Amino acid sequence: MGYRVAVVGATGNVGREMLNILAEREFPVDEVIALASRESIGKEVSFGDDAVLKVRALDDFDFDGIDISLFSPGAKVSAAHAPRAAAAGCVVIDNSSHFRMDPEVPLVVPEVNREAIAGYRARNIIANPNCSTIQMVVALKPLHDIARIKRVVVATYQSVSGAGKAAMDELYDQTRGIYMNDLKAPQKFTRQIAFNVIPHIDLFQPDGSTREELKMVRETQKILDPEIAVSATCVRVPVFVGHAEAVNVEFADPITAEEARAILQEAPGVDLVDDPDNNGYVTPVECVGEFAVFVSRLRQDETVPYGLNMWVVSDNLRKGAAWNAVQIAEALVEEYF
Ligand SMILES: NC(=O)c1ccc[n+]([C@@H]2O[C@H](COP(=O)([O-])OP(=O)(O)OC[C@H]3O[C@@H](n4cnc5c(N)ncnc54)[C@H](OP(=O)(O)O)[C@@H]3O)[C@@H](O)[C@H]2O)c1
Repeated sequence: MGYRVAVVGATGNVGREMLNILAEREFPVDEVIALASRESIGKEVSFGDDAVLKVRALDDFDFDGIDISLFSPGAKVSAAHAPRAAAAGCVVIDNSSHFRMDPEVPLVVPEVNREAIAGYRARNIIANPNCSTIQMVVALKPLHDIARIKRVVVATYQSVSGAGKAAMDELYDQTRGIYMNDLKAPQKFTRQIAFNVIPHIDLFQPDGSTREELKMVRETQKILDPEIAVSATCVRVPVFVGHAEAVNVEFADPITAEEARAILQEAPGVDLVDDPDNNGYVTPVECVGEFAVFVSRLRQDETVPYGLNMWVVSDNLRKGAAWNAVQIAEALVEEYF
């Protein structure tokens, strides 16, 4: 038996990846419906190698009879339409930031807190965390289980695809413009992104941090452990796809780099690639199209009693968004429907 699945934001970076992954994983579908804004009515999106779906408008779409909706149309549109879909009886898995901190909405990374999915019944909505949070907690969870994490200090190197398809166009056009002596002014970003890095993602907060940094703090605490202190600096870099993070972790209990390596080798969703003698580490370009969270450069931090440093890389459109959402959908179908 198959399910009726709607993909909302199907023309976007995340929505297209959702369609790819549903097809790749042979998710049991009877019908897949692609939804986006009115401007996209009639456009075509691919579903697997053979099928092409005609895009329909979200505005007046009736969710009656839809089993699961994967939402990625942005926070405002999710806020307006996800409750309507949920009220029609469909389970919404939402990628936007809108519902993440709602106590009645589970915030789920299946490798970390799969059991939290059960909470979907309160509102028929499950939230997908921020891309940077997802890849970090997948790497942290197995270490936290062994040696209890006290504090995390993270600096991110986030690709432009995390800001949507228009941001990818901006990096492309600016890079080309620089070579053609025709520099394009920033529109999606606050500064030139080509050949530059920008220490500013989402809105500034009164304390000088940004909302992206605040998301990493609060979401890590909601998913993994409210006792973990997180200090984040989020930076946009001129990379198309794939987020990287330099993560410093301080533990309450003893743990060595060798022990951590052995744990991460077995950890679900983690691929440990760490062979300094042979330049063995993963960069964003190599993670594109992959499902895993890659951990490299794992080493002791000798400045605290029990500390580790590591380099964490993942495809932000896959594990950071679409794959995490499809994993939740797979768990729903396996355990709850
Ligand atoms: N990219 C990531 O790494 C990532 C990770 C985690 C979460 N997210 C979240 O996922 C969401 C989408 O990200 P994205 O990168 O896919 O953005 P995107 O490439 O800009 O795509 C946005 C999608 O939303 C649709 N949309 C916009 N306004 C709409 C409306 N009024 N009604 C219906 N559909 C509408 C667009 O349709 P049209 O083409 O018709 O405009 C498009 O399909 C955001 O909330 C983002 O924060 C992204």
